[in-house]
Amino acid sequence: MKLGIIYGEISTKHQLLMERAEEIFDSVLAAPIEGIKFVHGEEEEKVLYKDTDLTEFDAVYIRTADNDMMFSEHLVEVLNESGVVTQAENDTYAYESNKFYSMKILAENGVNVPDSIYTLSPEVAVESARELGYPVIMKTVRGAGGEGVMRATSENELKPVMDTMKSFEQEICLQEFKEHGGKDTRVTKIGDYITGYSRSSSGDEWRSNISGGGDRVKANITDEMKQVAFAASASMGFDICGADIIGEEEPYVLEVNGSFGISEEMNQLIGEDVILRMVERMHERAMEKQAH
Ligand SMILES: Nc1ncnc2c1ncn2[C@@H]1O[C@H](COP(=O)(O)OP(=O)(O)O)[C@@H](O)[C@H]1O
Ligand SMILES: [Mg+2]
Repeated sequence: MKLGIIYGEISTKHQLLMERAEEIFDSVLAAPIEGIKFVHGEEEEKVLYKDTDLTEFDAVYIRTADNDMMFSEHLVEVLNESGVVTQAENDTYAYESNKFYSMKILAENGVNVPDSIYTLSPEVAVESARELGYPVIMKTVRGAGGEGVMRATSENELKPVMDTMKSFEQEICLQEFKEHGGKDTRVTKIGDYITGYSRSSSGDEWRSNISGGGDRVKANITDEMKQVAFAASASMGFDICGADIIGEEEPYVLEVNGSFGISEEMNQLIGEDVILRMVERMHERAMEKQAH
């Protein structure tokens, strides 16, 4: 069995997947996204890294960052169509790459998400915020690690930010602020398995991202949270993903990540080798596929 791992610019953690994968796959190749090229044949398309064609692999784990999403959309489609096991469906990255589009897909599938509005217009934003109520969240539709996620407590705060975003040609997802006391949970779904950890922001910071200084803490993952995580990943078409969830009894999904943070510290806190589970899952699906 052969596994490929395609990683994006800001991924430094694919080595952790490599190490584990080498224990269970016969061979593993990690390829940076810059080294990948697509080649059209008459009938089929190849995904080349140097002289290696990744469409001939059994499985490919896609770990691309936010700004590579257009690329990911194409990549996953070519791999899936070639019969390679990936962790996503053809449309998944189209949904994932835009925070508003994700909210829409989730809501349409009955998953609880904060009320959201999509606009480029500062005037529309101001009007919409009256409906959503203050404080209101503003998110650039692309962004990770809490970057591009802002909050306004009044019209006077919202308007200048929206004016600025317009001048930077940034589309904005305006969102109802859900009080969560600075804590959310990164629920990780790997096939039928659910695990995760909570994140607690420090001081007055309301964004709980680890990269922004949040602390990882043990999670109490309720059945409701599990259900919502399964429903969210099914709507987006992910077999493996990390969903950011707030609330325990009535959970809301803030986003679903394909390239979510992994680390030894995460494993230690959870008390299990989650990274190993990820590659085991890819292996299991590749074996199933081969048997058919
Ligand atoms: N609607 C919201 N209500 C309250 N807090 C939010 C909301 N949206 C985001 N946050 C906070 O901001 C953090 C980052 O938002 P998120 O949408 O996950 O973006 P990123 O992709 O940057 O992680 C979340 O983990 C959460 O703590
Ligand atoms: Mg997040």
